[in-house]
Amino acid sequence: MLLWLHILFVILLLTFLYIDLRKRGGSKFATIMIRILYILFILDGAILLPTAMGRHPRLSFVKVGASLCMIGFLEFLIARRAKNTLTKPIVIICIILLLILIGLGLLTAGFRPWIHL
Ligand code: HEM
Repeated sequence: MLLWLHILFVILLLTFLYIDLRKRGGSKFATIMIRILYILFILDGAILLPTAMGRHPRLSFVKVGASLCMIGFLEFLIARRAKNTLTKPIVIICIILLLILIGLGLLTAGFRPWIHL
């Protein structure tokens, strides 16, 4: 259930990020939603963490560290967006890092809830 919630947050994050990046100067509403999602991610992730630690302690540790770094990077992206100083390479790096993080998350969860090994 909490894992499904985490996946829902990922979909919402990608959606609001897309809305924010499409608009010149960024979208205020999308920025607020992204920041609310950070808090929800941290709360949900903190509840998921003990179970994940039991399964893959080292991977979980890396996942949480990478997630917090990603939040920092997304904030940097939003700030650049608001100042209209965002460049294509930054956006491409951000997308690649997000995809890596999603892969890392799936690996940490053992591909649950999609596949039960
Ligand atoms: C940028 C924000 C984040 C993204 C894109 C993200 C993405 C993901 C994804 C795709 C999964 C796999 C879900 C699945 O199995 O289908 C996952 C799992 C997980 N995430 Fe995140 N996450 C983010 C933030 C966080 C934060 C802030 C924390 C902790 C404070 C966290 C802790 C976890 C944990 C512990 C798992 C593994 C759950 C388990 O093994 O049951 N995530 N994440």
